[in-house]
Amino acid sequence: MEAVPILEVENLSVSFHTAEGKMNAVRNVSFSIGKGESVGIVGESGSGKSVTVLSIMGLIPSPPGKIESGRVLFHGENLFEKKIEEINEIRGNQIAMIFQEPMTSLNPIHTCGKQIMESVLIHTEKSKQEAYDRALYLMNIVGIPNAEKRMKEYPHQLSGGMRQRVMIAMALANDPEILIADEPTTALDVTIQAQVLKLLHDLKEQFNSSIIMITHDIGVIAELCERIIVMYNGQIVEMCLYRDLFADPLHPYSEGLLHSIPKMTKDEKLVSIKGQVPNPFEEISGCSFAPRCQYQQEICLKEDPELLEVCPGRFARCHFWDRTK
Ligand SMILES: Nc1ncnc2c1ncn2[C@@H]1O[C@H](COP(=O)(O)OP(=O)(O)OP(=O)(O)O)[C@@H](O)[C@H]1O
Ligand SMILES: [Mg+2]
Repeated sequence: MEAVPILEVENLSVSFHTAEGKMNAVRNVSFSIGKGESVGIVGESGSGKSVTVLSIMGLIPSPPGKIESGRVLFHGENLFEKKIEEINEIRGNQIAMIFQEPMTSLNPIHTCGKQIMESVLIHTEKSKQEAYDRALYLMNIVGIPNAEKRMKEYPHQLSGGMRQRVMIAMALANDPEILIADEPTTALDVTIQAQVLKLLHDLKEQFNSSIIMITHDIGVIAELCERIIVMYNGQIVEMCLYRDLFADPLHPYSEGLLHSIPKMTKDEKLVSIKGQVPNPFEEISGCSFAPRCQYQQEICLKEDPELLEVCPGRFARCHFWDRTK
């Protein structure tokens, strides 16, 4: 199964205090990731995927955000107890993140080359020349043509796909042990998406980095990840090997997700899951998926099921995970 974990998230709960009231964005989330392993996180918009990984990075804005409980252990040490300098040292170095929107995290007034060099220089003792060489190497690795010329260009001079590659190059500046990618391909067109995925795949092989990949697209997980975490309304509802989920989804929401994978034949329509995502400001008594669930029973509206380990390494949060019984 899973290798010795390098990152463990334990009972993470995160809330936001807004004008509309308090909402629980992430509720009691626990998972771990081993060296060289890749895990995909899927779930609808607002299910808490980004908040989960931003918490790992120490990037939850507070206020309005608050870590209500939990620990994030990196090599056994709780990141929430570290000083800001120590966190800054780990962030962007041992744990790096690729954000969804490259323009928001690239600085428009510096050249792409300078920004990659900065990522190298912040965390290492390298000289400027060494940082330049490293930046050039990374630009090549991520498949940016005419890398030397591109180094001198500003982010707005590059296409979306090329900017995303610059972001990936920055994230890889110091061979991170863990690479977190939050929807790295959403803003890209389909061919570029495939190239970026191939790139992440190659990088995993080359650097043996662990990858946490967030996506709306379960097909992306199939290509890149061994394990999958399905989130719904701030909770993990299923967690297992991707192939197990694909063969036999235990949570009705995962079942719906699998059915919503676009089929190749023309006549089959994309099946979307019926109903609305719950209002995050409302307290729910039972299972939060119950109102949309075709298998709903009385108990589902009264009791929120626990995340059960139904067999080694397979977790599901459903009273009726074994619906064949
Ligand atoms: N800074 C913030 N202030 C207030 N609420 C927030 C903030 N950031 C996130 N939230 C809320 O937390 C919940 C979880 O958000 P999150 O960004 O983790 O969703 P997500 O699963 O990443 O969705 P998407 O697929 O759209 O990126 C949402 O209801 C969101 O509105
Ligand atoms: Mg998100």
